[in-house]
Amino acid sequence: MKSTMINTLFFCLFQSSILLSSSKSTNPFPKEALPTKSGYLPINSTSSSSIFYTFYEAQNSTSPLSQTPLLIWLQGGPGCSSMIANFYELGPWRVTKSLTLQRNPGSWNRRFGLLFLDNPIGTGFSIASTPQEIPTDQNGVAKHLFAAITRFVKLDPVFKSRPIYITGESYAGKYVPAIGYYILKKNEKLHASKKVNLAGLAIGDGLTDPLTQVATHAANAYYLGLINERQKNILESTQLEAIQLTKTRNWSDATDARSRVLIKLQSMTGLATLYDYTRKVPYEDDLVAQFLNLTKAKKALGVNESFEYEVCSEVVGAALHADVMKSVKHKVEELVKRSRVLLYQGQYDIRDGVVQVEAWVKTMKWEGIDEFLNAERKIWKVNGEVAGYVQKWKSLTNVVVLRAGHLLPTDQPVNSQAMIEDWVLERGLFQSVQLDNVSINSTFSHLL
Ligand SMILES: *[C@@H]1O[C@H](CO)[C@@H](O)[C@H](O)[C@H]1NC(C)=O
Ligand SMILES: *[C@@H]1O[C@H](CO)[C@@H](O)[C@H](O)[C@H]1NC(C)=O
Ligand SMILES: *[C@@H]1O[C@H](CO)[C@@H](O)[C@H](O)[C@H]1NC(C)=O
Ligand SMILES: *[C@@H]1O[C@H](CO)[C@@H](O)[C@H](O)[C@H]1NC(C)=O
Ligand SMILES: *[C@@H]1O[C@H](CO)[C@@H](O)[C@H](O)[C@H]1NC(C)=O
Ligand SMILES: *[C@@H]1O[C@H](CO)[C@@H](O)[C@H](O)[C@H]1NC(C)=O
Ligand SMILES: *[C@@H]1O[C@H](CO)[C@@H](O)[C@H](O)[C@H]1NC(C)=O
Repeated sequence: MKSTMINTLFFCLFQSSILLSSSKSTNPFPKEALPTKSGYLPINSTSSSSIFYTFYEAQNSTSPLSQTPLLIWLQGGPGCSSMIANFYELGPWRVTKSLTLQRNPGSWNRRFGLLFLDNPIGTGFSIASTPQEIPTDQNGVAKHLFAAITRFVKLDPVFKSRPIYITGESYAGKYVPAIGYYILKKNEKLHASKKVNLAGLAIGDGLTDPLTQVATHAANAYYLGLINERQKNILESTQLEAIQLTKTRNWSDATDARSRVLIKLQSMTGLATLYDYTRKVPYEDDLVAQFLNLTKAKKALGVNESFEYEVCSEVVGAALHADVMKSVKHKVEELVKRSRVLLYQGQYDIRDGVVQVEAWVKTMKWEGIDEFLNAERKIWKVNGEVAGYVQKWKSLTNVVVLRAGHLLPTDQPVNSQAMIEDWVLERGLFQSVQLDNVSINSTFSHLL
């Protein structure tokens, strides 16, 4: 009750400064913060299962809408809602501690259309008509995503010709390659007019090749000065259990062993969160849960008021439990040949961060991998300050973002926006070098 009154107060102050004719409403969701579209994309003709979406059109595109890129965002988990990114990371408005919305200067929809999908079904506001329909592997996830994406594109003729970039974070390091690969395979069989216009894929702080990644935590923490050699040895033996269980394909036990590695590391270091070893308190993504639990927020998004929203679903987490240690590296290897791939990590993330990603990238089977690994790591500046480092060879780009953790756009909104815009539009350090004749047919050459 008390907090509702405070919200009302905040909102009135807020609204009177923004709207010319304020209607003295207590709506925590100002009109200009509403998504361009939101609702449900059915994914199964014989059940009510559907994927919830919010879509924000580009605020200020530099190309006609019919050519303006569409970014699709997938949250990790498994089972966490993309509304976390929408309202806490990279959407045009972010939730404040007083459960109001505030403009995000680093929104990813400045130049591009931005579509958030609550994936897989059962996550966030998405609906799983039965728990059995929740996917238990990446192929199942991709099948549903493909249905949702093709449905979305049909909602408006202006979407059809737009280049699509699939992006996501953390466990979406599995989803992004899975749907990308699925699109490539589907496109081979579809008539030109039906193909999904896949233009690239971006993974932030991702889990992609868990076997390689789980092997890195002990050394990573040791060289950061967070644990001593004795603790490093203990952690390494737990890592080895996870590795062996993965190699013998004891998937569920392997997932549990990986969790033990992270729990041990957490308890050895006493950090607030492994997602950012510099944080004094964990990320406050629970604000999203509180905000979206407000009846008026649900109404604004077109969701049933009785829907019990959770930021992360345990049911979905359980459905994908045995999937966690399975690799999708081979899908990235295919995608890097036939599309463009961006990997980016926050410097302070020690779960799925710089060290974890470099470890699997080094093992990629791709003809360009040696050139990529030997490519110069260029100093990347935004507004005159060092924002991070960019390493690129042909279709593969890796970015390390300084002063950021796992939820990188939360920590570095403006730099994350510069990164995604420059990568999509192939500007600055993200340009293809002159002699780089990998066949990328860029829609954006007119913008360079
Ligand atoms: C669609 O729903 C039916 C009924 O629950 C289920 O048997 C089937 O597996 C679902 N198909 C997909 C692709 O999820
Ligand atoms: C839109 O982008 C153009 C080109 O970058 C810029 O000059 C202009 O100020 C922007 N307009 C708004 C409303 O942000
Ligand atoms: C893996 O599972 C199999 C069959 O359930 C079991 O026999 C084996 O001992 C397990 N391996 C390990 C390393 O636990
Ligand atoms: C959501 O709202 C209901 C009713 O207003 C309340 O009982 C419940 O505790 C809230 N849940 C969360 C997670 O905030
Ligand atoms: C909302 O959900 C409740 C409970 O599941 C259901 O009874 C009601 O019909 C739904 N309302 C709408 C408008 O769909
Ligand atoms: C670049 O293009 C030239 C001429 O088409 C071709 O001979 C060469 O093999 C290409 N190089 C690479 C690395 O693909
Ligand atoms: C690039 O795409 C455009 C439009 O689809 C097409 O007209 C052009 O021939 C393509 N160029 C190359 C080099 O493939």
